[in-house]
Amino acid sequence: MLILGIETSCDETAVALVEDGQRILSSLVAFQLDIHRPFGGVVPELASRAHLRALIPLLERAIREAGVEREAVDGVAFTRGPGLIGALLVGTSLGKALAYSWGVPLLGINHLKAHLYAPCLEGATFEFPLAGLIVSGGHTLLVEARSWDAARILGSTRDDAAGEAFDKVAGLLGIGFPGGPAIEAVARGGDPGKFQFPRGMIGSGDLDFSFSGVKTAVRYLLDRLKADGLPVPTADIAAGFQAAVIDVLAAKFKVAVEETGARTVVLGGGVARNELFRRRVRAMFPSSRYRVLIASADLCSDNAAMVAGLAGRILKRGREDDWSIDADPNLPWGDGLL
Ligand code: KG4
Ligand code: ZN
Repeated sequence: MLILGIETSCDETAVALVEDGQRILSSLVAFQLDIHRPFGGVVPELASRAHLRALIPLLERAIREAGVEREAVDGVAFTRGPGLIGALLVGTSLGKALAYSWGVPLLGINHLKAHLYAPCLEGATFEFPLAGLIVSGGHTLLVEARSWDAARILGSTRDDAAGEAFDKVAGLLGIGFPGGPAIEAVARGGDPGKFQFPRGMIGSGDLDFSFSGVKTAVRYLLDRLKADGLPVPTADIAAGFQAAVIDVLAAKFKVAVEETGARTVVLGGGVARNELFRRRVRAMFPSSRYRVLIASADLCSDNAAMVAGLAGRILKRGREDDWSIDADPNLPWGDGLL
């Protein structure tokens, strides 16, 4: 079963072809970094316009690179939310138009569930109970799954998402956009113990997160250094900030895994590209007791293979959407992994 996937929830335009929910035939991503960099963040309208320009050439290339005829496509999947509404509408419109004109099933996919599914594109299989942590630019979400059809949210962020905090702190430090990779690179030369930043809500007793405090602490430190005319130790601040965020994510993930009794542990989303974070999670859940599933870096950040892959699994179960399906910027989690 061959699914064409379309992803346009934020600032990456992506198209992929995936067979049977797991074999990637092609997966292409067009980045918009140069468009948004001057603004230090994603400008929603510019993102939508860039999706409009990029999608059709990307679609043509994805089909060509997959080496298939478009008649071989059994279904079309698109990200319906959560995300930026204008950006989502571009992918939704193309998805609907293609499914209608090709006469194949249409599937609207939850972006966060697709992130969680990503390791399945590299041969992983889910066993239950499962605990998942999705950490991206817009979300920080802990989930528990008892089966494909029973998954609930255990905790989420009360303010900034972890990736958002990386982006904002990189902005404060003036080291580039997007912030995550910039902080990780700069932090390599820094001392994570030089500055102790707050570990927001680490002992809150629940599984929610807060990352606005650590961001504000960085801002106050920078203000103080500036007022005193002192140089800014960028690498030490980046390393201290990164350590604080990873500490909180790791601590809450550990509690979630223990509370759910999960033996399968899944990490997904753009922040899961972070090498230090990946190593921390692997070290925390030894392979003698746990199956730790983390997709390779390019499948952790936004892509369409995860959308097409999850859709393949859904279609196999016989579920498809009707023409009334709409984009939803605040798409709720629902009650399963599909
Ligand atoms: O999942 P994603 O590609 O898009 C969303 O759904 O938001 O995640 C993007 C986020 C951005 O905030 C970016 O700064 C962060 O992931 N990110 C990282 C790293 N690479 C990307 N954060 C920390 N370390 C990284 N290496
Ligand atoms: Zn994402």
